[in-house]
Amino acid sequence: MTMSFNPKIFIDKQTAEIRRVLAEEKTIVACSGGVDSTTCAVLTHRAIGDNLVCVFIDTSFMRLGEPEEVLKMLSSPPLNLPMKLVDAKDRFLNALTGLKDAEEKRKSFRETFYQVLSGAAKHEECEFLVQGTIAADVIETEGDIKTQHNVLEQIGINPVKKYGYNVIEPIATLVKPQVRQVAKKLGIPSAISDRQPFPGPGLAVRLVGVVTPLKLATEKKATKVVEEVLDNVAVQYFAAVIENESKKDPVTDDIKTESAKFFDADEDWVEVKTLKSRATGIRDNKREYGKVVTLNIKTESGELLKPSLRRLFKLQEKILDKYHRITRLLFNLNKERDGALLVAIRAVKTHDFLTAKPAIINWIRLGKASDEILKECPEVASVYYDVTPKPPSTIEFE
Ligand code: XMP
Repeated sequence: MTMSFNPKIFIDKQTAEIRRVLAEEKTIVACSGGVDSTTCAVLTHRAIGDNLVCVFIDTSFMRLGEPEEVLKMLSSPPLNLPMKLVDAKDRFLNALTGLKDAEEKRKSFRETFYQVLSGAAKHEECEFLVQGTIAADVIETEGDIKTQHNVLEQIGINPVKKYGYNVIEPIATLVKPQVRQVAKKLGIPSAISDRQPFPGPGLAVRLVGVVTPLKLATEKKATKVVEEVLDNVAVQYFAAVIENESKKDPVTDDIKTESAKFFDADEDWVEVKTLKSRATGIRDNKREYGKVVTLNIKTESGELLKPSLRRLFKLQEKILDKYHRITRLLFNLNKERDGALLVAIRAVKTHDFLTAKPAIINWIRLGKASDEILKECPEVASVYYDVTPKPPSTIEFE
């Protein structure tokens, strides 16, 4: 029988362990304001007090207003963490701009992250780094699904040799709900303990295809709309931005026929496209950098078809069961106009983040989000709802 998790016992044990390992060592922690890194920072601060230096790295791949809000929240009561801002916006932008491949972007982000942190650690004379790696980060990086920004030793990288510090990971055995329990017990405000997850590489993994400053600006505006309009609709919800470029693909004709039959529609009312960009997914427990397919169905009168999402998910199952190279299926939410970019709204329900289902959201809310995105982002041709479960997709696009 498995014992239920007791956050108080965990906190007491880890505080003692951190104190034992770090003793009088000056230590650095990079705190992004997410529940994982904040929990680590607060635990370590309890254990070693003023010997801890907390840095917030502004990577420029954060949401609008996030650096200011997070810094204020972390350094004010009740947390009072000794925060320092490291402005690395240009370094990250220079490293990632122009990169296209998902893993290339992730690796470049990780490398820049640790180099910046290495500089900060040297500056602060810290030989230890505490980081908030959790169980899912390790599982997915070791499984070659995707490179997490915070996994090193588990995949054979020696942090002392490469970056000049030892790494300590006090919550690496926990899953997200346990981290939230620990955070609450530590008195971390619910704005952080219940915060939706945000990936370490930030908005970089939501810019599908090549990274450009314009795409990043669009992503920031679209994410703000999604977070406001779809507030609390799912465990995790956000926007991703993709180039509006499609390519020839024989499967689109089959999917068109299948979709028309499914909705009893004329094939002329159905448009199916395979985009040039690819998205990370999982097939047969392995990483698949797969196709992104868009589906646009109209009614006889030329209006958009707005089927019940449950019914749409049935069609999605049929398509994804049959075409194993597809890792994303996007359903159109508005009439397309001219524009270089597309936005996909992602909203998922999940317990463990290792599997996930698209959330059921009513059309009024989805319509409101898509109208608002089109209003804020003239460069966007169309907005889609991502109807893909994990697997075969992942929660993030890259
Ligand atoms: P995926 O996209 O792998 O995401 O299905 C599962 C959960 O992990 C988050 N995620 C990350 N978190 N560094 C992180 O700290 C990362 O590189 C990373 N990639 C994904 C994602 O937001 C979701 O909650």
